Amino acid sequence: MCGIVGYIGEEEATPVLVNALKKLEYRGYDSAGIAILGPGNEAGAGHSLVVRKAKGALKNLEQRIATEIIRGTSGIGHTRWATHGEPSDVNSHPHTNVSGKIAVVHNGIIENHAKLKEMLRESGVTFKSQTDTEVVAHLVDYFYKGDLFEAVRATLDRIEGAYALAFVCENEPERIIAVRKDAPLVIGAGKGENLIASDVTPLLEYTRDVYYLNDGEIAVLYRDRVEFFDREARPIEKKTSRVEWDVSAAEKGGYEHFMLKEIHEQPKALADTLRARIKTYATKTINLEEIGFDASWAQASRVVISACGTAWHAGVVGKYALERFARIPVDVDVASEFRYRDPIYDPKDIFIIISQSGETADTLAAMRMAKKSGARIIAITNVVGSTLAREADLVMYTWAGPEIAVASTKAFTTQLMCVYLIALKFGHLRKVIDDAELAKNIEALEGLPALAERLLAQKEDIQRFAARQFHKTKAFFMGRLFDYAVSLESALKLKEIAYTHSEAFAAGELKHGPIALVDESTLVVAICTQTALFDKMDSNIKEVKARGATVLVITWEDEKYFDSAADEVFRIPRTLDPLSPMLSVIPSQLYAYYCSVMRGNDPDKPRNLAKSVTVE
Ligand code: M6R
Repeated sequence: MCGIVGYIGEEEATPVLVNALKKLEYRGYDSAGIAILGPGNEAGAGHSLVVRKAKGALKNLEQRIATEIIRGTSGIGHTRWATHGEPSDVNSHPHTNVSGKIAVVHNGIIENHAKLKEMLRESGVTFKSQTDTEVVAHLVDYFYKGDLFEAVRATLDRIEGAYALAFVCENEPERIIAVRKDAPLVIGAGKGENLIASDVTPLLEYTRDVYYLNDGEIAVLYRDRVEFFDREARPIEKKTSRVEWDVSAAEKGGYEHFMLKEIHEQPKALADTLRARIKTYATKTINLEEIGFDASWAQASRVVISACGTAWHAGVVGKYALERFARIPVDVDVASEFRYRDPIYDPKDIFIIISQSGETADTLAAMRMAKKSGARIIAITNVVGSTLAREADLVMYTWAGPEIAVASTKAFTTQLMCVYLIALKFGHLRKVIDDAELAKNIEALEGLPALAERLLAQKEDIQRFAARQFHKTKAFFMGRLFDYAVSLESALKLKEIAYTHSEAFAAGELKHGPIALVDESTLVVAICTQTALFDKMDSNIKEVKARGATVLVITWEDEKYFDSAADEVFRIPRTLDPLSPMLSVIPSQLYAYYCSVMRGNDPDKPRNLAKSVTVE
């Protein structure tokens, strides 16, 4: 998704902005650009605004800047993920007004851009690009009467949609103006310099003190201060928040890719996410004060979970876990469906909204709809200060640290840890599980980080298997119950980064249609950790083997059940069957990673995908 950066201070802005844009590369982009305000740029005298942009990787922009040097100590920058108009130099941001004195960068979508374009054309504007964003530059110009702030405010009254926007104006070199609505934007408060960015990662090199902008707020950045206003231009007092992530957490630390690093960080991420919630009184217990867990939860008659992509898969595991441990009905739905399907609410429902970034447009829309129903909203998110974290009633953080790779790994397993903690605590409250059962499960959860470590030590087995299979163009993942949920996530991983056509099936569904697709070219990964259903899985494996498929079974390390049926068995350390997803997904993450690398792809930045999907 598009990334925005901005800088105003005493340093040369170009390297700061390019460096910051590099930190946002993981969000996915297809072109990049900067606009710098500096004395004497091109115009020869006074401050002038210069824009450089280039289609493709950031290095194209860097090459252009190296030969067409621009100087200046303030500016804005952008990585573009095309929505309106193909990736091209001209469609890249920043966009400017006709005279080139006002520049804007934008993340989001201006929904009424066509109408505005028509209006601006009638007033004599000629558009250069096919983007929705360019209307914003011309609108600001249209309203500009010597005060950028007022022109931006007038523009905000006209535009509809989602946006994080930053503006600079040649006539007002001392300030940058930034606004947001339904798209992320963070402000870094430095010493003698201030910055903006779509998330905190580019800011960490300069400052840990950040301001989170709320929807509808306007920030005016000067070199030595930041002022905040509401839409009516009334000043707002804001306090900085301290970001605890350190810079190295957002770097590769010796790993070839962020994804591989993040896969390896799972033992620690699981431990961190769990540790904060286990308390020892007379015995060990789960403490969920942060989400207001108390006896009133017993009134709930249903849990509703909504999320997108991997986070939705965590929700599917959550459904199985809550039904198993707490015997409470659970609806789980992708947020893009939930928001449009006129769902039935009950104020006694408990909503769990899951999102790594806390900025996914559909997920936020689902959360806002659910909130109107009066139900209790619990957010599970990884990003402190994200929109979801700020708008939900209660927040449970996944302590995974920054997840940079587009394909989610440690965020998923830590989301699982959170839903299991809720399910177990809820089950205990509802007297479905007794003290002994709770203690047994807590102990098993505590054992998981070490088991994940041990599993990762066998990664070469998966690498060798991938070396034999990566050319396969068709892969099916199948399982039952928790293993079905993990199959969904496994198939998504392989699609996203290896670009292999992969599908997930509830194993029992195979013979109702999908088995027609199975032939000698098919890889079937059978996830088999639900002991009570081994016989059923064995039959399914035989059915696909009989049609020529190659079968990899993922099962417990001490389990021999599938040795003769499978072509290959990958063994994972033993834990309790219902807790298996936090381990059984790891081989699939590794398999997808190795296939991606062997196919010559960049697993951190897969084609067409963005880390944080802030538009519909
Ligand atoms: O930030 P979120 O968890 O809300 O993101 C949801 C999905 O966009 C995300 O999980 C996506 O499916 C990932 N690329 C999966 O690896």
